[in-house]
Amino acid sequence: MIELRDINRVFDVGDEQVHALQDINLDIADGEYISIMGPSGSGKSTLLNMLGLLDQPTSGSYRLNDTNVTELSDREQANVRLHNIGFVFQFFHLVPRLSAANNIELPLILAGIEPRQRQVRVTRLLEQLSISDRGQHRPDQLSGGQRQRVAIARATVMQPELILADEPTGNLDRASGEDVVEVLEELNRAGMTLLVVTHDPELGRRAKRRIRMVDGCITEDIRSEPAQADSTAEPLTSEQVQAEQMRFDNLLNEEALEQLQEYQEQVPYNLRNDRS
Ligand SMILES: Nc1ncnc2c1ncn2[C@@H]1O[C@H](COP(=O)(O)OP(=O)(O)OP(=O)(O)O)[C@@H](O)[C@H]1O
Ligand SMILES: [Mg+2]
Repeated sequence: MIELRDINRVFDVGDEQVHALQDINLDIADGEYISIMGPSGSGKSTLLNMLGLLDQPTSGSYRLNDTNVTELSDREQANVRLHNIGFVFQFFHLVPRLSAANNIELPLILAGIEPRQRQVRVTRLLEQLSISDRGQHRPDQLSGGQRQRVAIARATVMQPELILADEPTGNLDRASGEDVVEVLEELNRAGMTLLVVTHDPELGRRAKRRIRMVDGCITEDIRSEPAQADSTAEPLTSEQVQAEQMRFDNLLNEEALEQLQEYQEQVPYNLRNDRS
């Protein structure tokens, strides 16, 4: 699914250069569950941002499903992000003035899914994540764990094949953190590829494949057992979703466009804040 070759990311800071990623080579297969650990500043977020097309490597190639995605235009990359990749961040990054349900709905609006269908999918996800009674609450009316569930719902409402989570439990107490990880693992069992950056060794150990980064390099890459789908888990119906999508025209009204703009502006903005 993912093939990184000789990836480097160098940041220019004044007249200094920070080598955040150094000659990274990495292959990730469909359906894997991977944790990424390592000291602060070792390049974990830089790697995740690059995998999520939020950042470009200085050199090297990144193939996602046999497409060299570094060569795509901004617009094409945005499209890959919308349809193939879901992000979960440490600081949730929900749109503050929108309800939980509306936050989850945003990617569907972006993809031009019609309102009735959007409502069906949002309702289903709220149920799956046990936050049905919180759909009309704004983020500031939710607990941390509930906010992260909303963020996970938003990241997965488009049924992406890849979920990238950067310290998703970093702002949660242990119980809510466990909860959130279980939700992510459930999605992985249903077939989504899952990459989790964490500082928590206990969480890191849960992954079937564990990567360690130091100074921008991968220093360890351990597999405890081959990644395999849990046959008892109900598979997510991505074919169904795709079929639905194709049936509907782009129906972006003015309000949707406004929400969308706010959504798009907010994610990169907060991402920059994350690095402080
Ligand atoms: N936008 C940027 N501009 C300049 N330097 C950056 C930028 N983003 C990251 N860096 C530098 O790149 C290196 C790797 O940063 P990164 O955020 O990937 O680390 P990390 O492993 O995620 O750390 P943490 O565990 O603290 O989140 C650090 O030295 C950091 O200072
Ligand atoms: Mg980080």
